[in-house]
Amino acid sequence: MNVFVNRIHSFFMIITDNLLTLFLETRSHSEEICAPLEIEDYVIQPIVDVSPPKWHLGHATWFFEEFILVKYIKEYVRFHPDFAYVFNSYYESMGKRVVRTDRGNLSRPTVSEIYDYRDYVTTHLQSLLEESENQEMFQLVEIGIHHEKQHQELLLTDIKYILGNNPLLPKYNDTFTESPEVVNVSEYITIKEGIYEIGYKGNDFCYDNELGVHKVFLPEYAIANALVTNKEYIEFINDGGYKNSLFWHAEAWDWINANHINKPLYWHHIKDQYHQYTLRGLLPVADNTAVTHISYYEAYAYAQWKGERLPTEFEWEVAQQFFDWGSRWEWTESAYLPYPNYSKASGALGEYNGKFMVNQKVLRGGSVATPNNHTRSTYRNFFHPELRWQFTGLRLVKNK
Ligand SMILES: [Fe+2]
Repeated sequence: MNVFVNRIHSFFMIITDNLLTLFLETRSHSEEICAPLEIEDYVIQPIVDVSPPKWHLGHATWFFEEFILVKYIKEYVRFHPDFAYVFNSYYESMGKRVVRTDRGNLSRPTVSEIYDYRDYVTTHLQSLLEESENQEMFQLVEIGIHHEKQHQELLLTDIKYILGNNPLLPKYNDTFTESPEVVNVSEYITIKEGIYEIGYKGNDFCYDNELGVHKVFLPEYAIANALVTNKEYIEFINDGGYKNSLFWHAEAWDWINANHINKPLYWHHIKDQYHQYTLRGLLPVADNTAVTHISYYEAYAYAQWKGERLPTEFEWEVAQQFFDWGSRWEWTESAYLPYPNYSKASGALGEYNGKFMVNQKVLRGGSVATPNNHTRSTYRNFFHPELRWQFTGLRLVKNK
């Protein structure tokens, strides 16, 4: 989720026309995501992990302004002298900032001012792209585009949290489909013992945490071709899965008891039937769609109950060619760590990924909230194990 990275395309000349088109499309798409919102929806921060939509819109803009316009336009005048303080996220080397817990306490700048800020920065960056041939700048724009795409995913999941925790359970719109049917009947694919290459090998964009191609040894294993479904997960609930400490890590057991957790996030038990809040409003839980909004703790406990386990991120990457993926971020058993030979970018962009490589679990795949062409088979997402407001699910592995 956090983000990026400075991949240097040493032999890859970015084509400016394509870059400009992608930039403008990306800027527009963020605003399209917010189009169904009421003004009040833009402002609140119900939990620390969920930022106000207006903050996402401003922060993605700040990134282009501070990392590119300030650097490459002579005598550039910032839209507002204090917006860097408001919209810096976690970049220590970019100066002081509003603490994360206070993002929802700001009535100003207004939503309208933030849209003006967006227009100002988009217009200046468009002019720069049309006039410059600076490859280093193009690379930074590409990173800025991917950064904004990451925030588009967060926009959707944060909007869902804001609306889904409102007692009125307002719908976001009538069309967003969260749960494609699980088409695969669950079968297990055997992957032979062997040495496999891990990491990104192409010449297009990737984040630095995917680099450092290296070999890993994998014992033989069998991985499910389908995600665990709601129906299967309900069997775990009905069998007392949340009440049996033997399935849970110690800190997970404390977490479910302290927070009274006994079902996935957004689930409601109404008249003996589970319902779930979706971006289309409250709907009955559908049996044959992938379970979602579960923590790593819950994914692990489910696997324990089944007598199976989660894949490591390496097992997932090797096997992904044999199954469909991309509708759910999939929890893995892997800790988020640097690959061998990992090197982070110099300067502030070096804060993008490396400083988060502690106490987090890797997720692989993508989700219904992931923008088109944003994820790939080597993409490594990462979250703390108790978090579940992303579209997170699980796939099982059996030892052979
Ligand atoms: Fe960001």
